[in-house]
Amino acid sequence: IAQVAAQAFADVRESSELEALRVRFLGKKGELTAILKQMGKLSAEERPVIGALANEVRASIEDKIAAAAAALRERQMQEQIAQETLDVTMPGKRRPIGTQHPLSLVLDEIQDIFIGMGFSVAEGPEVELDYYNFEALNIPKNHPARDTQDTFYITENVLLRSQTSPVQIRVMEKQKPPIRIIAPGRVYRSDAIDATHSPLFHQIEGLVVDKGITMADLKGTLVTFAKTLYGQDAVLRFRPHHFQFTEPSCEMDTMCFACHGEGCRLCKGEGWIELLGAGMVHPKVLQNGGVDPEEYSGFAFGMGLERLVMRRYGIDDMRLFYENDLRFLNQF
Ligand code: PHE
Repeated sequence: IAQVAAQAFADVRESSELEALRVRFLGKKGELTAILKQMGKLSAEERPVIGALANEVRASIEDKIAAAAAALRERQMQEQIAQETLDVTMPGKRRPIGTQHPLSLVLDEIQDIFIGMGFSVAEGPEVELDYYNFEALNIPKNHPARDTQDTFYITENVLLRSQTSPVQIRVMEKQKPPIRIIAPGRVYRSDAIDATHSPLFHQIEGLVVDKGITMADLKGTLVTFAKTLYGQDAVLRFRPHHFQFTEPSCEMDTMCFACHGEGCRLCKGEGWIELLGAGMVHPKVLQNGGVDPEEYSGFAFGMGLERLVMRRYGIDDMRLFYENDLRFLNQF
């Protein structure tokens, strides 16, 4: 048996073969076990001699199993190492890296400008209550000012916000002055899609509330912002306007940089391009936000991101922002 076993173990290639051999020699129905079962038939003198011999054979087989198993493991390891070798001289695969969307690119720039002036960034929900979108902003139910913003209603009191101004109220409710925030985000209006309209677009709201804030602070902040974004030589003007939630209200324009005020296609012949709406926060709006208008004053502004980006890069069709055409997007 010992000889046969020695021969058999030398040829082992797989761990399953090794297990089969273990069963063949040492298993319950194995060859050695069969011999040991015959022990009862031996004489009293023969039994210890044969017993000792059998133990020797068993020990030698167990040694062979262990040795074969070790050799097997070593060989498997070598094979694995050979397989996993990396050829570090092979040329790499270049992964295509995307570009930032022009809206994100300019929004990041705008945020940096305001953060540099001490503002922080706030957020509000896109599905908003009628109260925050209109009522708290001094636009009561049935007021004609609502008609200027064709609003998507979900229920009578819930809507898709038509402006980022509701964030003004939400911030004032949570935070005591001094307040200095911008609030960028999506807004929705039931407008037909064309080169300058989309039912979804982006606004950036701004709100500053503190003691002694005046129109001079509004002007200084917005001029600094626009000149940082468009260049120090940008020509700006403020025009009186009306918003329900600011008093007085204004709009800021920049002189058309395509025609320098002469009038062209970009500015629709006007020579000026409207950039944003702004004003001193209406005392009723401060009150609705839990701020005492006797003690504090503030200014607010709101601008359309798409328009700013179109002006920035000379893009004449808003639809390009949403169509995900890589020939357009890869230019930024
Ligand atoms: N919410 C106004 C709009 O969408 C813009 C605005 C914001 C005006 C803040 C004044 C103050 O037209």
